[in-house]
Amino acid sequence: MSYQSAIALAYTFVILVIIKYFIWAPRKHHTAPRRLRNVKECLYLLKSSTLKQRASPNQRLVIAFGIDNAFTTVDPIHAKRFVNQSKSLLRTQGDDWKMLTQFASDWTKQVVFVKLQTSCSFRLLPMVQALVFHTVLRKFFPAISTPSDSEVEFITSRINSLWIASKGIACQDKTQLVYQRKEFQSRLQSTFSPNKSQSGEENPLNILLPAYETLWRVVLRIFLEVQFLSEPQRVCEYAAQFEKFLLDPTRGKFEEETQIQDGLSVSIKGIVAEGLRLYPPTRRIYREIDGEEVAVDVEYLHRDATNWGDDAMRFIPGRWATLTTCDAGKRGYMPFGAGTFECPAKPEFGLFAIGIMVGVLVTKFANQFELNGGDDLGPLENVRDAYSELELRRKI
Ligand code: HEM
Repeated sequence: MSYQSAIALAYTFVILVIIKYFIWAPRKHHTAPRRLRNVKECLYLLKSSTLKQRASPNQRLVIAFGIDNAFTTVDPIHAKRFVNQSKSLLRTQGDDWKMLTQFASDWTKQVVFVKLQTSCSFRLLPMVQALVFHTVLRKFFPAISTPSDSEVEFITSRINSLWIASKGIACQDKTQLVYQRKEFQSRLQSTFSPNKSQSGEENPLNILLPAYETLWRVVLRIFLEVQFLSEPQRVCEYAAQFEKFLLDPTRGKFEEETQIQDGLSVSIKGIVAEGLRLYPPTRRIYREIDGEEVAVDVEYLHRDATNWGDDAMRFIPGRWATLTTCDAGKRGYMPFGAGTFECPAKPEFGLFAIGIMVGVLVTKFANQFELNGGDDLGPLENVRDAYSELELRRKI
């Protein structure tokens, strides 16, 4: 081989190495997070969690929504400030519960009235999302003026699509997502604070997302269970209980037990607890430990027959009449998380808000509408895009 050929070969080799390692770098391989399904292991992890372990997997929410809150920060002072702000917003006195119930009830009554005038059927899912969205706005953003129906539909469906897109963020082209987010933020700006910054700690989504996103799916599923999947006798009994709770939304009524058939006792507390068991809004809690992403599989723990019995997949609110909080915890019940970052909405707000919104749907839609297209609803699916086409149809 000539001297020139050897030099050319050496150059080619160097160029190939550059292409392989610097230009044509292999894409980082993203495996699904390892799922933890042992109660003790999950509790141990959640008790010893750090801000950094939680913030890492939540960076997808920073990219998709621009949020900056306790879920995404590694700064302990910022996290504490946000949790304290949430606790103070969540505080709700007796009269405030009455006002919120009245608001949700009036909103739904007006929707039923309009629906009855204009059509004989309508999609259930956007209606439930709108009810939850308006109720959350009333509670957490009382100063803003009520957005139009079309604005609410845009915001709620865009939250949904950005949330779904954020799941695959690590391995996809972000151009489309960034475009969607920009459009979303400018529409949010006009609803929430036309003259104020919306970035970082000022972003209304910091509060809106943990509140709205956790509530709408479980409200929809409990409504379907109570109103359309229970035996007719039970439907009446549940409706009567919800009516009493809406008239007097207090802890006493929330926990009041009523004897139903078969000697079982049921309370609104039991109905809500059972809904959160079968359909936990946070299906998995993510942490990053030593570079590996792991997921506490809350949904699995809540449905595991070894802990909950052969009827684990059935909606049986009566099971809560004899179950203590401690027993439930040992079985891995943790809809509000556990340990270091347990949710501040656990003691009251989360539970009452679900009870009120399901109650309003049950009492307002009870006798005038039936389900269209839901004949073979089995145990309900808990994924976010399920039931988007389900309709309520006016009874003839
Ligand atoms: C049924 C409704 C709700 C459910 C099921 C729920 C669920 C959860 C879960 C599972 C966690 C733990 C996250 C983790 O460990 O990484 C959590 C934390 C949290 N939730 Fe909720 N949540 C609900 C409602 C709300 C509402 C209405 C707010 C109000 C703003 C809220 C604010 C928070 C905050 C600030 C934390 C973080 C606490 C901390 O870092 O110490 N949640 N929630």
